[in-house]
Amino acid sequence: MPGRFYVTTPIYYVNDAPHIGHAYTTVIADALARWHRLVGDDTFFLTGTDEHGLKVAQSAEERGVSPQAQANANAARFRAAWDELDISYDDFIRTTEPRHHTAVQTLLSAVHDNGDIELDTYEGPYCVSCEAYYQESELVDGCCPIHTGKPVVRLAEENWFFRLSRYQQRLLDWIETDPAAIQPEGKRNEVLGFVRQGLDDVSITRTSLDWGVPVPWAPGHVFYVWYDALINYATAIGYGTEPERFTTWWPHVHHLIGKEIIRFHCVYWPAMLMAAGLDPPHRVHVHGWLLLGGEKLSKTVHGAARLTDIAPARLLDDFGVDGFRFHFLRDQSFGPDGEFSYEAMVARYNADLANNLGNLLSRVTTVVDRKCDGIGPAPRPDSPLAAVAAEVVAATSAAWDAVAPSQALEATWRLIREGNALLEAAEPWKAEPGPDVDGVLGDALEVLRLVAVLASPALPSTTREVFRRIGLDGSPTDRVLPEVAAWGGYPGGRPVEKGAPLFPRIRTDA
Ligand code: ME8
Ligand code: MG
Repeated sequence: MPGRFYVTTPIYYVNDAPHIGHAYTTVIADALARWHRLVGDDTFFLTGTDEHGLKVAQSAEERGVSPQAQANANAARFRAAWDELDISYDDFIRTTEPRHHTAVQTLLSAVHDNGDIELDTYEGPYCVSCEAYYQESELVDGCCPIHTGKPVVRLAEENWFFRLSRYQQRLLDWIETDPAAIQPEGKRNEVLGFVRQGLDDVSITRTSLDWGVPVPWAPGHVFYVWYDALINYATAIGYGTEPERFTTWWPHVHHLIGKEIIRFHCVYWPAMLMAAGLDPPHRVHVHGWLLLGGEKLSKTVHGAARLTDIAPARLLDDFGVDGFRFHFLRDQSFGPDGEFSYEAMVARYNADLANNLGNLLSRVTTVVDRKCDGIGPAPRPDSPLAAVAAEVVAATSAAWDAVAPSQALEATWRLIREGNALLEAAEPWKAEPGPDVDGVLGDALEVLRLVAVLASPALPSTTREVFRRIGLDGSPTDRVLPEVAAWGGYPGGRPVEKGAPLFPRIRTDA
């Protein structure tokens, strides 16, 4: 039954350019959105940029530009990167937009009116890179526990505080009654442990900077960047301005986040929603880090030198857009940390794309050209592959539903292997033209059609090209599952085109 699927990425800081860590989360969100569109779900995919706060203001100052000019320039770079990677977002939100200021002020005024935002004084260690206060006990040698070796600063401010401490029990109730709300389970347990220790109130306004959303009831204060940023997920679906649209999408949300921002998404954000009289998010999917030599791949930790070793443009030159996407979806399993390796990327590309998929397409189109005058025959209704295809469709669907892209693609690739095995057993290239050859090639063409549909979330442009080469009109995403995935959809009688390899093999000896 078609449902509703609202998927978000974190909104990325505009203090610098996009890197492949950002691309990782965004490609996964994109593939999930494409999958849900394919099964006919009403889908809304949101990404964007986080443009306020001290980190962003300081980096603009260092560059000698205004924070708004820096935000404009870098938001444009994120958009350009996502265009290049075929990211099909439905909305790109920027927190400096007026619609967002309105939503932040409306939501936090509701919390203030409910009595859960009060004036108080706070003093403590603060990490500017995280834009977060820490407890003394959390520091590592006086430094931020996330930005290893980076000293914290001391901040003391008379500020408005969100009474997070009042939400401990409600948060525990939420996490305990909906065990799937935070995934994977290890991350859920981490949040439970943190909440059970007891929660401190959070300072949510600043007077020390003005680059933020003004606090409506307290002139001279702006909201703390995280309390502004999290609300983007509500702004984009019309919170405060389009109530019907908002209730259509909220709380059917799936937040995709990296593990370093788990507290914000699994503690602060749900509590703030509750305080505003709203439901907590439906799902938070927490993933690990892409590591490079064991360290998190992020400019703020490494400095630019490391990152230029793996400039995204360089990867696109070598792997193409779909090859790039495939790596992050297939090779990095969603959840644990994963080591980024160029060699592993090449190995996977050559094995799965150049060999398995590429070979199937080139064999089939070549033999159809030679033995069937270039016209693709229809598949056999009683093909031995029909049952395999049904299993593959089920396994692929289950894995996408479980936010396990790597397993989904592994499941789909089983059908490619079975298609290649059928050809190797029958050797139609050696046989006389006739019904047997037609049957085998028809089955293989049907496998290609099905794979183009099932892999379309990962490989949007090459799967369209597979469709075209086997003579099908339109695109693999024109019709929805399950109908489109029933065995026998390839009609036969279509001109099949031999063409250049979709995924030219990458030579490893050079
Ligand atoms: O935290 N591996 O923005 P940000 C995997 N503005 N994912 C990575 C990664 C890596 N090495 N590096 C970055 C912020 N990411 C806030 C979010 S949301 C209301 C505000 C991805 O620019 C991952 O999704 O630091 C991580 O959570 C996000 O980029 C952090 O991006
Ligand atoms: Mg960060």
